Amino acid sequence: MPSRIVVAIATVPAVADRAATQFDAVLPQAGNMSIDQMVDAAAQHQAEGVVITSSLPLTSAIIARLPPSVKIVATSSVGYEHIDVDAAKARGLIVTNTPGVLTDCTADMALLLILGACRRARDYLHIMEEGWRRKFDQSQMLGINLRGRTLGIVGLGRIGQAVAARARAFGMTIVYTGPRRLTPELEQGARYFPTPKDMLPHCQVLSLHAPAGPQTEAMMDATMFALLPRGAVFINTARGSLVDEEALIAALASGHLHAAGLDVFRAEPAYDLRLRDFPNVFFTPHMGSATLETRTAMGMRALDNIAAVLAGGAPIDPLWR
Ligand code: DGY
Repeated sequence: MPSRIVVAIATVPAVADRAATQFDAVLPQAGNMSIDQMVDAAAQHQAEGVVITSSLPLTSAIIARLPPSVKIVATSSVGYEHIDVDAAKARGLIVTNTPGVLTDCTADMALLLILGACRRARDYLHIMEEGWRRKFDQSQMLGINLRGRTLGIVGLGRIGQAVAARARAFGMTIVYTGPRRLTPELEQGARYFPTPKDMLPHCQVLSLHAPAGPQTEAMMDATMFALLPRGAVFINTARGSLVDEEALIAALASGHLHAAGLDVFRAEPAYDLRLRDFPNVFFTPHMGSATLETRTAMGMRALDNIAAVLAGGAPIDPLWR
């Protein structure tokens, strides 16, 4: 008998096909299921595994409503701040994520934001959409080069390292901060600073690659933005919760920040529309992992985890051991 699962997210065809073939699967009709639909589907189907993503929060209240049949919840995301880990542990659930498979894709997005912010992509797009039809002289519409600038990375993990590799190819110097210094093989010449406060004054571009959580909540506040050199460019593909957006808006309004590139926001999808008023904010709607290849790999990895656990084996990507 195939294992019973609920795939609560609308996923790419290859993942949906595999779910329907390998498992006795309930899939959403259109779009992601709501939390209530997910819980109801799990109860009605007596599901043993559930696939979710970061827009479906697994709070302690939701965990309490899941039927006892559920053994594993696999989130099709690397971030897992939407999951109450303590409540999941207490309930004896296995929870997995999808690290590794979205590294390159997210790093590509960070470079898109760095380039877009430094090269005025939003201004240029606006000009073209308006029909262009006016001449610019050589003193106008100027961006800034990446070559020769220093990129500071908060969190030189998988994604941070992939961003560093790309930025080096653009001629940037890399500095980083994080809980611990990496080996020289992983550093690849990047200079380590034990704290963000030590590093920020050296960063002409700053890119966040740390997980959400109590330790990073609003880590970029007014004091931290003030530590960046005037004219710095701020990039966030990690999570909006890392940023005090009032402080970000103030730093943009004062001109302390030259530009920002943002894929993530404190409120999603209802992001703070004041950010839209800054033409030097180049932004995208949380699409760091949004390629066909990566979303396929994420969904497959979630199913791999479920298959392993429901076959009696160990999860591949457990959130805890
Ligand atoms: C992730 O995998 O964490 C992405 O941000 C999508 O939520």
